[in-house]
Amino acid sequence: MTSLDGRVAIITGAGRGIGREHALLFAAEGARVVVNDHGGANDGSSSSESPAEEVAAEIRAAGGEAIANSDDVADWAGASQLIRSAIDAYGDLDVLVNNAGILRDRTIVNMTEAEWDDVIAVHLKGHFAPTRHAAEYWRGEHKAGRARRRNLVHTSSTSGLFSNPGQGNYGAAKSGIATFSQIAAKELARYDVISNCIAPGARTRLTLATPGLEEIMAPKQGFDEWDPANISPVVAYLSSADCAFTGETFFVQGGAVKRVTGWEFAEAVEQEAKWSVADLAAALQPLAE
Ligand SMILES: NC(=O)c1ccc[n+]([C@@H]2O[C@H](COP(=O)([O-])OP(=O)(O)OC[C@H]3O[C@@H](n4cnc5c(N)ncnc54)[C@H](O)[C@@H]3O)[C@@H](O)[C@H]2O)c1
Repeated sequence: MTSLDGRVAIITGAGRGIGREHALLFAAEGARVVVNDHGGANDGSSSSESPAEEVAAEIRAAGGEAIANSDDVADWAGASQLIRSAIDAYGDLDVLVNNAGILRDRTIVNMTEAEWDDVIAVHLKGHFAPTRHAAEYWRGEHKAGRARRRNLVHTSSTSGLFSNPGQGNYGAAKSGIATFSQIAAKELARYDVISNCIAPGARTRLTLATPGLEEIMAPKQGFDEWDPANISPVVAYLSSADCAFTGETFFVQGGAVKRVTGWEFAEAVEQEAKWSVADLAAALQPLAE
């Protein structure tokens, strides 16, 4: 019995890169996989069914179970169809891995409205919309007496968690995704749904588009620490019925898995009255030094 035996999993953006590795590993671990990919370019332009089809065919050729789906995760009806495709094909849904993503890097002063909107849509709405439809299905199953452990895994980035200049759109979405995952963990616990998040680091077409990273990430002798396949065992574990975590975020790169903790209260100034601006400025000054 492997950790994902018989589980039904949707992996978004699984036609390439990290998501493809998730799909291959999930199938090898016994999961029945819906390989979702809209099949567009790095910046989200265009679409094609073939990346999802190719990965699903690769899984089936290796003896695994998979179907392809090319819905846009940022489209409300498409996200609903995606969830439905798993239930129609395999009779249920246990795991949703939100992974699909695009990049349109630009400094804030140069960013266009479309560059902002498209990146926020694919990442933030593209995490919310499938989660929303899956959660509705899981609530129904729970209420119908078919309760069992269900898993959400979301994909954030150090770009959002530690604020990378030049990626205001992407970083804002990725930071939001980490918080969204924690809120999902709290809201959906009553339906036995757990929710965790990863911030991966790997060699894919997204990272190779960033100047300087190709050389850093080039495979070296021995352990290939930037191989996207290194990310997938963590996601498979977070997708297993006996995963011990919820509401957590893990940085994953090479053989390193690091729990990431977020915002916390630090020094404070406080009084039992409304502050005057002058008094507040004076009280806060030591915190700036
Ligand atoms: N590679 C890294 O080091 C790294 C670092 C931090 C975060 N991430 C995140 O990991 C995830 C996977 O990225 P990757 O590096 O494997 O890139 P990738 O481009 O190789 O894969 C992303 C896939 O998502 C698909 N996709 C894009 N928009 C979609 C949509 N609207 N609906 C369905 N599919 C869509 C693309 O077609 C593509 O195949 C992304 O969320 C990315 O932001 C990657």
